[in-house]
Amino acid sequence: MNKGLQLRNISKYYDEGSHRVAALDRVSISVAPGELVAVIGPSGSGKSTFLSIAGALLQASEGEVELNGQNITKLPDKQLSAIRLKEIGFIMQSSNLVPYLNVLDQLLLVKKMSGKVTAKDKAWAVKLLEDLGMGAKLQRFPEELSGGEKQRTAIARSLVNDPNVILADEPTASLDTKRAHEVVSLIEKEVKARQKAAIMVTHDERMLEYCNHVYRMEDGKMSLVRL
Ligand SMILES: Nc1ncnc2c1ncn2[C@@H]1O[C@H](COP(=O)(O)OP(=O)(O)O)[C@@H](O)[C@H]1O
Ligand SMILES: [Mg+2]
Repeated sequence: MNKGLQLRNISKYYDEGSHRVAALDRVSISVAPGELVAVIGPSGSGKSTFLSIAGALLQASEGEVELNGQNITKLPDKQLSAIRLKEIGFIMQSSNLVPYLNVLDQLLLVKKMSGKVTAKDKAWAVKLLEDLGMGAKLQRFPEELSGGEKQRTAIARSLVNDPNVILADEPTASLDTKRAHEVVSLIEKEVKARQKAAIMVTHDERMLEYCNHVYRMEDGKMSLVRL
């Protein structure tokens, strides 16, 4: 059973020459399985730093991160990368697809990184892409896809290792309004159906209707806007 994601009293300091910048100031959040949580806030307020720590890409200066019941705060880098691969699905602002791989191979690459690809893995990936409306485009390359299709592929890819946590940083930044709604409602649907604990950073207030809770980041401090 997925136990979700908890951050407790996370602070992050960056050294800027002689002085210390607090990018995060005692941030706490708990995300349960099946929940999609939004984080909004101005540029430079600490959103990406927060998401990087939640995704085990960056170490906090203080505080604790617990992922699916495991305290990952002090784990060595090697263990953290294994946890990232297995436990966390990332969806980024631009879809970050590999230019020379077709849609299906984008997913199989992730499988390959964590072991051998079996016929069963391949069938699972095809089914997932069909679920996300990409069934007719399995052989297409990224440059042959629309912005919305790229993000749908990126959503599918984030689900490949069946991670417990999904983290999305501005996933609609490159999309028009209609595609943005499609993409976020798809994220919401998958988060619910697969019981993922999900956090989405967004600038777009219109996307908040899909989220269970909304937090605001301001000068490294996080506050609850809407339950
Ligand atoms: N690697 C870094 N070194 C020094 N300062 C950084 C670094 N990354 C971010 N910061 C600073 O931390 C603060 C928060 O940045 P960031 O998390 O990127 O905010 P956001 O994603 O909300 O725009 C900013 O003041 C930024 O300049
Ligand atoms: Mg950012």
